[in-house]
Amino acid sequence: MSALIPRPTSEIAPGAVHVPQWLTPEQQRELVTACRAWATGPVPIRHTELPRGGVMSVQTVCVGWHWQPYRYTRTAGDVNGRRVAEFPQWMVDLGRRALTAAYADESAADYTPDTALVNFYDRQARMGMHQDKDERSSAPVVSLSIGDTCVFRVGNTETRNKPYTDIELASGDLFVFGGPSRYIFHGVPKVHAGTADPGTGLASGRLNITMRVTGLPG
Ligand code: SIN
Ligand code: MN
Repeated sequence: MSALIPRPTSEIAPGAVHVPQWLTPEQQRELVTACRAWATGPVPIRHTELPRGGVMSVQTVCVGWHWQPYRYTRTAGDVNGRRVAEFPQWMVDLGRRALTAAYADESAADYTPDTALVNFYDRQARMGMHQDKDERSSAPVVSLSIGDTCVFRVGNTETRNKPYTDIELASGDLFVFGGPSRYIFHGVPKVHAGTADPGTGLASGRLNITMRVTGLPG
């Protein structure tokens, strides 16, 4: 649901920028359609198995490269052995526009994300505090949210512990973390169920897309 009072862009930490309502409703609908298609295959969406047992509460489908804890591969050995969907050029372009919106500088021209993790959160799903550090590149991570609003917890680069800054990521919001914040601990402790506008095509739950540069060859 679009906010009656526009929320301003804010730098949560150096290099960590929140741009509320960056995606238009139409872009959100298009992304939901694309994510639904990726969710069906070639590698279907699944709860990722954790190395020490158990599964993640979010459901994930990958584009470009397949992620499993804690590496990227082209084929999904832990799901069905198939090669993941190609990373489309329109996502590269979207990632560049996102970086320009967040940083308002020229750095986006060279930004070429080659993987995206698409996470679906139902009302129970959470994500614990972690760093995105399986990439060999330190290029920024671009995060797009659609559907239910969540609490997004931003920590520091040293430990997973307090102090935290909690912000809300709502449908259409962009969050970029790069530079000194590229390796911040972050997580999603809460999804506010029922806050989504079904007009995006997502009747319930939260979709988050993070684009990254793996730094891996070919
Ligand atoms: C992630 O950390 O990979 C996902 C973050 C989010 O869901 O906002
Ligand atoms: Mn992450």
